[in-house]
Amino acid sequence: MENTLMKGGVTVVAGGGSGIGRAAVEVFAESGSAVEFCSVDAAANDALETQMTERGFDVKGTTLDASSSAAVEAYLAEVGHRRGRVSALVNSIGIQRYGTSETTDDATWDEVLDVNLKSMFLMVKFTVPLIRANGGGAIVNVSSGQALASQRNVVAYTASKGAIVAMTRAMAVDYAPEGIRVNSVCPGSIDTPMLRTSARALNPDDPDAVIAEWGRAHPIGRVGRPREVANAILFLASELSSFVTGTDLRVDGGALSAQPMAAPEDKG
Ligand SMILES: NC(=O)c1ccc[n+]([C@@H]2O[C@H](COP(=O)([O-])OP(=O)(O)OC[C@H]3O[C@@H](n4cnc5c(N)ncnc54)[C@H](O)[C@@H]3O)[C@@H](O)[C@H]2O)c1
Repeated sequence: MENTLMKGGVTVVAGGGSGIGRAAVEVFAESGSAVEFCSVDAAANDALETQMTERGFDVKGTTLDASSSAAVEAYLAEVGHRRGRVSALVNSIGIQRYGTSETTDDATWDEVLDVNLKSMFLMVKFTVPLIRANGGGAIVNVSSGQALASQRNVVAYTASKGAIVAMTRAMAVDYAPEGIRVNSVCPGSIDTPMLRTSARALNPDDPDAVIAEWGRAHPIGRVGRPREVANAILFLASELSSFVTGTDLRVDGGALSAQPMAAPEDKG
């Protein structure tokens, strides 16, 4: 689907080296935006930058640990030096760790909250001045269906994702007067390296069977593709959603709309 929705824009994609973030790098570049992306994985960053540059796009990757305030501040200073402004920020960094309140140690709790939540706070803190320099723009934070309904054994991850939805509302209210919209997306299961790691942990011999089973838990009958989330992010970052701020958009194949208990006469 060709479009020029982001023509002339400068988009920052945090977590752009893999999965949903990587799809956002592609979709925003294909929509006409220059893209600055970052992630902690240098090899993935280099490969994606090379691939996108060879396709003729203006895309630059940077390696950093986004849970460090100093690193994020230095990164956005560099982006400001190179571009002068930013029109959209996509926050897609995330890690998954498993445990209940009793089996999650303090270090794991801190790691998940720092990488999943604090990184988004820091990216917003240091990108907003550049969005202001653009005369306004949009921010999209990637939360999760786990923010709204939880599995067992994911207490830290779920806490971070719920906080992202609440933080998004606070940011939306803070920055609406300046023409900066802030929204979140809540994906269901999406076929990315993160999901495949979880599937392998459940069944090392047949992760595809796990992913197919998860797919059946989504009314659409399959897990999502990274670009299906990136397209929803593109909508929230573009002028098509000019009156939308502070909302969370489910991109979950209907997963959170369904109850697992069958009703009488249900032949499905
Ligand atoms: N895949 C799913 O099913 C799913 C579902 C709901 C929400 N999400 C969320 O979507 C986002 C993207 O997940 P994904 O599935 O694409 O995962 P992924 O593992 O493919 O990508 C995560 C990205 O975050 C980067 N990253 C991790 N720690 C970092 C750090 N400290 N500093 C900088 N970068 C760091 C990684 O390098 C990678 O580029 C995450 O926030 C995740 O929680 C994913």
